[in-house]
Amino acid sequence: MTNQAISSYREQDSFERFREGFPALREQTYLSICEKSILHDDVRKSVDSYLDRMALATADRAGHEEKVFGCREKFARLMNVDAATIAAIRNVSDGINSVAWAMPMAEGDNVVVSADAEHPNNVYPWLRLRRRGNEVRSITPRPDGSLDIEAMIDAIDDHTKILSCATVTFAPGHRTDIARLGEACRKRDVFLLADGVQSAGILAHDLSSDPIDGLATSTSKGLLGIYGFGFLYISPKWIDRLEPAYLSRPAVLMQSDDHSTMGNYDYELQPDSRRFELGSHNLAGAYAMDASLKLLLDLGIGAIEERVLPLARALKEGAAAHGLAPAVPSEGPGHSHIVTFGAIDAGGHGFSSDPMIGPISEHLAKAKVAHTIRRGQLRLAVHAFNNEDDIEHAVACVGEAINSL
Ligand SMILES: Cc1ncc(COP(=O)(O)O)c(C=O)c1O
Repeated sequence: MTNQAISSYREQDSFERFREGFPALREQTYLSICEKSILHDDVRKSVDSYLDRMALATADRAGHEEKVFGCREKFARLMNVDAATIAAIRNVSDGINSVAWAMPMAEGDNVVVSADAEHPNNVYPWLRLRRRGNEVRSITPRPDGSLDIEAMIDAIDDHTKILSCATVTFAPGHRTDIARLGEACRKRDVFLLADGVQSAGILAHDLSSDPIDGLATSTSKGLLGIYGFGFLYISPKWIDRLEPAYLSRPAVLMQSDDHSTMGNYDYELQPDSRRFELGSHNLAGAYAMDASLKLLLDLGIGAIEERVLPLARALKEGAAAHGLAPAVPSEGPGHSHIVTFGAIDAGGHGFSSDPMIGPISEHLAKAKVAHTIRRGQLRLAVHAFNNEDDIEHAVACVGEAINSL
């Protein structure tokens, strides 16, 4: 065996071992990571250890903080940045609202977003700013549902403060050309805010070089954690320009280790992203993340991306061979781990008026292939725990469904 063959064999082996840790995969073919995570045994054990400590009153602050610091540091490593740039928050909504209200904006300043292509949690925070006298410039997506990057760039003017977009849209699942958007934002001193929930833990990000100024994510999808915990990355270049709307102890520079005293009422904000942390953390979420990030880092985010993209391509090509064309072509920059079929917006959340989609979805459900319907499209997605058998099974079900129409 050549060295390359040996290392790819080892890699395959570590993915198979990783897969074995997910009890859900013994029951079903899980192709729905874009909807919600499933738990690895190590993650569950870590959360259980937290619950045991609470139940037996053996929990202490230092032990909890170790997990919060630990997962912050591991998420930073996953994103190739310093831990000080990461805040432990609740979810995408928390991160986006935090930036929206921390950014100094005068009346008439604007935000650029493509509301029809984004999850509502990356739209409502901006609509709320209208009451402050800010304008929301919503750019119509292309007919295939992808972001119209050039139109978004053209919408930037001297009053634009923030451009917000998903790294991968929840449907149809195009990967966003962050490099192009970021380049334009940097030229105009516009803050590029990314909703990273669909890509974090699955596709590689290098925030030390990607032109992203802020990234918000929940841990309830590709990061393989639980609901109600998330991360916010803020570039050190921006931190001094952002003043959080809310404030409590974690966001303030402590003069001493005495957490219950305040000293005089003068305070200084944390010099880094911790200024966005608020009150007590969701510790169950932190315990989960500490374990799942260890697993993801052991596999390596580059190797995960290299594993999932060909599997997603095989799913697209297999379905296409049965006459079901993917909504996002498998060649080209838009290709991601999310695979969708059917006309965009021919229906909504959980239903489709596309006559092919309902019967295929029913067939997949009977064959225990977890999937969703979003924006009227049939939606599946791949993570590092999926393998070639999962893809073959899903493709065979699609074929059977089409033949029975
Ligand atoms: C692109 C995208 N953003 C945000 C969310 C959820 O937002 P939050 O983490 O605030 O619940 C989802 C969930 O489906 C999503 O797909």
